[in-house]
Amino acid sequence: MQDTYVSIHLQRIHPLPLYQQLYQQLKEAIQSGRLASGSKMCPIRRLAEHLGVNTVTVVQAYRALERDGLVSSQVGRGTFVCAPTEITGASSWPDSTVQRMEIQADSWQVPVSPQAINFATLTPAAELFPVDDFQSIINQVLDRDRGQAFGYQESQGYYPLRCSVAEYLAQRGIICDAESIQVISGAQQGIDIIARSLLSGGDRVMTESPTYTGALASFRALGAHVIAVPLQSDGIDIDALKHRLKLHQPKLLYVMTNYQNPTGICYSVAKQQALLEICRQEGVVLIEDDSFTELAYDGSERRAIKEWDEDNRVIYIKSFSKILMPGLRLAFMLAPQHLQLRLMAAKHIADISTSGLLQRAFDLYLRQRLWKGHLEYMQKCYRDRYQQTIRAMQISFPPQADFSAPGGGLCIWVKGHPELSTDRLYQSCLANGVVIAPGSHFFPDKRDSNFFRLSFAALSEDTISQGIPIIARQLQLLDNSSPKTRRRFSPLL
Ligand SMILES: Cc1ncc(COP(=O)(O)O)c(C=O)c1O
Repeated sequence: MQDTYVSIHLQRIHPLPLYQQLYQQLKEAIQSGRLASGSKMCPIRRLAEHLGVNTVTVVQAYRALERDGLVSSQVGRGTFVCAPTEITGASSWPDSTVQRMEIQADSWQVPVSPQAINFATLTPAAELFPVDDFQSIINQVLDRDRGQAFGYQESQGYYPLRCSVAEYLAQRGIICDAESIQVISGAQQGIDIIARSLLSGGDRVMTESPTYTGALASFRALGAHVIAVPLQSDGIDIDALKHRLKLHQPKLLYVMTNYQNPTGICYSVAKQQALLEICRQEGVVLIEDDSFTELAYDGSERRAIKEWDEDNRVIYIKSFSKILMPGLRLAFMLAPQHLQLRLMAAKHIADISTSGLLQRAFDLYLRQRLWKGHLEYMQKCYRDRYQQTIRAMQISFPPQADFSAPGGGLCIWVKGHPELSTDRLYQSCLANGVVIAPGSHFFPDKRDSNFFRLSFAALSEDTISQGIPIIARQLQLLDNSSPKTRRRFSPLL
């Protein structure tokens, strides 16, 4: 048994119960680094025997550590010390921004070969883009506005487009005026300028775990500490959130409320409202990233937290990339009044303004109701692909692979056998011409895990039918190999 555990000393006559004494000593060992990040905690029964206490005492201590975000338990595997990034983020990242950026690059991309069947990307296939309509719209803009379309645009965004967007949002139950809308060059830029405006190195940010890799990259590039909060089937774990808010006092909380990337989870209305109330009470800025709400395939009407935000606290971001064309780099943001100037300044510093030509074109696209028709077309295409993916998975995936049908969005989150390494699954699928997104990319502590994400956005139904059995086969092969052959380590000497 490791020295750290041997040195634990519990006193039966003491004002603190045994489990709290154990919790405090383990906490100190983790924070001082004596229990290394990523290491497995002593098995519960073994530690209980060593200390001469009931296993319940150890379970309670581990639970308290988990509530603090210091350890995480993985079903069938044990309890592991969380990586420092999850607790103290910046301290474990290089000081130099350049180095931090280099590390980021690995977290949002995976190598692919050109012929591979790509279940890792959420980008719609190019043949779905409404190129002809857009060509006609751009010609109309050029005929109407001539050179004006190529001038600098105001940083907040082209005013008529902001009016059209306000109208669009009103149909979704989000009431705002053009003055409170900031046009951005993609939702990713929105997240990044929020981070740049509100965070400095060492600040704390909370995210769901797992979460969108681009948000993690922006927060970390600024040297922020990322604190992960687990997700449940109806949204963020409110108890864990409350506890970690008190402990870490973050400045920002970033969530995706509908068809979350990567899990596909949707928040219940009750949870949306509870989350808003907690952020109100704790004075935390809430960022709601609403990239997928329109993509419901089961007829359900999804709500956004922003709808309940009567005192205007939520920064709401909406992207058009997954429904229209990601290369347009068009999205918008609604922010509380007191933050608007700061965000606009950050936008100006980033790129002065989003392309005036494309803003004008998108405005006309909305006004001529072409958006509505295209949205319906995309919903239908995605629905067919989604249903084909779920069907193929139900037929060919081994029973140990657990997934639920999210009913919308672009992500299907799969939980493999407890011993599965999806970093390895990724490699073996790649060797067989298929790309998946391994779970490690989406967890703030980057741990290898038995989860992976599949998306059907870029694939035809035929290609989906070819690709899913290949993943199923690799899952079976990895499930059948013994843990010994599955995990081999070599000293780096
Ligand atoms: C949740 C989420 N937010 C933001 C983005 C980035 O979107 P955009 O292309 O608008 O920058 C993505 C892209 O996949 C995403 O999944």
